[in-house]
Amino acid sequence: MNTASNADARPVHRLPLAAARREELTLEILELRRRLNAVILAHNYQIPEIQDVADYVGDSLGLAQQAAKTKADVIVFCGVHFMAETAKILNPEKIVVLPDKDAGCSLEESCPPDQLAALQATNPNFYTIAYINCSAAVKALSDVICTSGNAEKIVRSAPADRDLLFVPDENLGQWVMERTGRPMTLWRGNCYAHVEFRRDAVLRLRQRYPDAKVVVHPESLHEVRELADEVCSTEKMIAYCKSSPARRFVVVTESGIIHRMQKECPDKEFICTPVYDVMRMPADNCRCSECKYMKLNTLEKLRDCMVRLAPRIELPAEILERARRPIERMLEISARP
Ligand code: 13P
Ligand code: SF4
Repeated sequence: MNTASNADARPVHRLPLAAARREELTLEILELRRRLNAVILAHNYQIPEIQDVADYVGDSLGLAQQAAKTKADVIVFCGVHFMAETAKILNPEKIVVLPDKDAGCSLEESCPPDQLAALQATNPNFYTIAYINCSAAVKALSDVICTSGNAEKIVRSAPADRDLLFVPDENLGQWVMERTGRPMTLWRGNCYAHVEFRRDAVLRLRQRYPDAKVVVHPESLHEVRELADEVCSTEKMIAYCKSSPARRFVVVTESGIIHRMQKECPDKEFICTPVYDVMRMPADNCRCSECKYMKLNTLEKLRDCMVRLAPRIELPAEILERARRPIERMLEISARP
């Protein structure tokens, strides 16, 4: 997998596909899906063309839940590598493909399994809660997995007599500590895309649109989270915007989510929060936040991975086995009322 450092981060700028080309590729993908008995799962940050052809679009929790119950023979995962790995762990007998094998994650990179094992060895009473944005090998070392959609519930259900170790997102971990009052040892990882949002940018938007509600992803910094009307996962953001009487929303997360927000709330306005990093300023002055990994997937690559049944997720049997239990534990706790 590509392990480009955070300093390499550049937003990816694409021209939209011509309508005829998009239509042609979409028809090919739908025919392949029928022939393969495949299901296409897409994360909320995927490009609109991919979201529109997917069977299901959602957050990491929803995608894991869909993967756990699918009857399809092939899972086509339009997201990043750790998400496709999770689908494979839940379906070791199925073929799982993703459009671009280099679609990684800065959080996953921040937590090598050997370093985690070394930290765990310092305290046998650690109970390890791993954010789903980590490798299968890290999942295999963990007691339970969480997503931003259920992190609070997972931490509240952790055994009271254990010392909690939360990996790898320190911002999500801090937020859950604030919500639950439960102290945790935090791994020092972060999402390179979310930590670029700054307090000033949100304050400016609040001044310009005083009627707007501010929705923030918990991977963001504390200085940004404390300005939010709502801090939640991408799926809960969409639900919040749908049910809120407000007409306008300042959205503090990756800009791919705006497609679903506009589609599902056509009469509301969504404002992307800009990232103010002059080193990253692209030529067209667009300063929306884009995850360079999520945006590696294209409609062409989606078609190609279905034709070739590759890149395919393959994992050692021992990792598959050990990583399944903490994911199943998460799904079981999530399903509780
Ligand atoms: P959720 O969609 O689970 O909120 O996660 C956001 C994210 O950054 C996924 O990588
Ligand atoms: Fe990872 Fe952040 Fe990209 Fe999500 S948005 S895949 S957390 S780098």
